[in-house]
Amino acid sequence: MEGRAFPMPILLYIAVFIAASCSSSEAAAPTSSFDNNFSIMWSENHFTTSADKQIWYLSLDKDTGCGFQTKQKYRFGWFSMKIKLVGGDSAGVVTAYYMCSENGAGPERDELDFEFLGNRTGQPYLIQTNVFKNGTGNREMRHQLWFDPTEDYHSYSILWNDHQIVFFVDKVPIRVYKNNGEANNFFPNEKPMYLFSSIWNADSWATRGGLEKTDWTKAPFVSSYTDFSVDACQWEDPFPACVSTTTDNWWDQYNAWHLSDDQKKDYAWIQRNMVIYDYCTDYERFPTLPVECSLSPWD
Ligand SMILES: *[C@@H]1O[C@H](CO)[C@@H](O)[C@H](O)[C@H]1NC(C)=O
Ligand SMILES: *[C@@H]1O[C@H](CO)[C@@H](O)[C@H](O)[C@H]1NC(C)=O
Ligand SMILES: *[C@@H]1O[C@H](CO)[C@@H](O)[C@H](O)[C@H]1NC(C)=O
Repeated sequence: MEGRAFPMPILLYIAVFIAASCSSSEAAAPTSSFDNNFSIMWSENHFTTSADKQIWYLSLDKDTGCGFQTKQKYRFGWFSMKIKLVGGDSAGVVTAYYMCSENGAGPERDELDFEFLGNRTGQPYLIQTNVFKNGTGNREMRHQLWFDPTEDYHSYSILWNDHQIVFFVDKVPIRVYKNNGEANNFFPNEKPMYLFSSIWNADSWATRGGLEKTDWTKAPFVSSYTDFSVDACQWEDPFPACVSTTTDNWWDQYNAWHLSDDQKKDYAWIQRNMVIYDYCTDYERFPTLPVECSLSPWD
């Protein structure tokens, strides 16, 4: 299969098959209602839920956006949410879904980001991912998606352990970020993180580098969330929980230290067909590439 484009139906079939066959612990994770596990970070009046509280809506208008975060912090595990993005003309609107060790943009924060960059009607969304350690990021990748993320809910997930961070879209690994255990590496593995999501106006940079401005006549812009699931080590201050390397947690075990063979096929297809930007190939920006760029995602 290597070296040729993977036909999409097979890719998706495999993805669904993987999801169905080897994630029993994920399926067992609780689907929580909002209040148990989240707090609203700002502008409560831009947050609504469906009557059964299973779907959450964040809205952005000219006054403000909105965001929520988990009450708990976690270190290592599996973090997943289904999101339906703002449809229609969403240029300038960014929906962010991320993990961060702090409540604000502190100078020593660790952070793992998914950012969905809106676009003009009919033009494709881009998905940007980034990794921060101790306040430094600059590890952007941008991907196209193989579906319209505004039409339906899709799951966006992060697998995080001491060996790798994998960003998934619907069970397809789109980005693999490895830890080689060197003292100088850039792998966030010490600080527990909250999970956040927010919607905000980023028309100064997001769409075609800031050329496309948000069309406020189309406001409010609404993104929708459901099926939050976390299967992770919940951090409890001040005890250094979640530090054992010999735990029974599936996400800490050998099989979660690298992609499975089927995931490697999906990932190879993504690498060939969906990558728009990769900081590890941007020699103009990094005449000397960051050290983690030499780590193989296949190991
Ligand atoms: C969600 O909240 C409940 C009730 O407080 C708690 O028992 C559970 O551990 C939380 N779930 C997560 C994933 O943090
Ligand atoms: C983290 O960043 C802070 C402030 O930028 C710096 O003072 C500190 O030395 C850094 N810590 C490590 C472990 O690199
Ligand atoms: C929006 O669409 C244009 C044209 O297809 C594309 O060049 C751009 O990368 C898309 N995404 C963003 C975030 O600008």
